[in-house]
Amino acid sequence: MAKICLSKGLTKLLRGKPVIIITTFHPTGIVNAGTFGAYTNLSPTEVGIAIGRPSHTYQNIKRTGELVLNVVTRPLALAAEVCAEEIPPTESELDKAGLHSEPSRKVKVPLIKECVVNIECQFLKELEIGYHSLVVVKCLAGHIEEEFLAEDGGLDVVKAEGVVNIAYPRPLYAVLAQPFLAK
Ligand SMILES: Cc1cc2nc3c(=O)[nH]c(=O)nc-3n(C[C@H](O)[C@H](O)[C@H](O)COP(=O)(O)O)c2cc1C
Repeated sequence: MAKICLSKGLTKLLRGKPVIIITTFHPTGIVNAGTFGAYTNLSPTEVGIAIGRPSHTYQNIKRTGELVLNVVTRPLALAAEVCAEEIPPTESELDKAGLHSEPSRKVKVPLIKECVVNIECQFLKELEIGYHSLVVVKCLAGHIEEEFLAEDGGLDVVKAEGVVNIAYPRPLYAVLAQPFLAK
């Protein structure tokens, strides 16, 4: 398995809206990892994510301006559940979930090695909506396992088995299957 780096059309790497684990830095330098599914692509380079303002992820993004989106595939669904647990900022969810970090290219926050797609991002703006903020981020660099790169430079989410949660907060997940051309 080898990842290739991309600099254009980065939101195509989130096709099918798979669950993501967002990595950020705590003030201590410990890597925080939180699980998120309520997001949408806004443009070829911008994503909007609904993030609870009390979360470590939100607070870290506001403090450092940096984050990495890491796509969850079938073998990592349990790890995504572990990253959704509330643990103190003195510990990293990555260790608890059996995941490993790797240096990013454009931001200081590391990416998750085991995820088939990683997108390095910087904070742009937010819109407060009740408990959450719609956090708009700009994608700076992308990484994808070569075998899951579709012909047009996007993620082949069916082959990669990117997961969606279909009964939140129950840990019930599904993968996209049976693609067809509507013609
Ligand atoms: C599948 C799944 C999807 C989730 N999606 C969101 C989401 O879109 N927005 C949100 O605020 N929390 C979401 N959560 C809950 C967060 O993962 C949870 O609040 C977590 O503790 C945040 O971690 P943090 O405090 O380390 O940032 C989701 C949890 C799961 C399991």
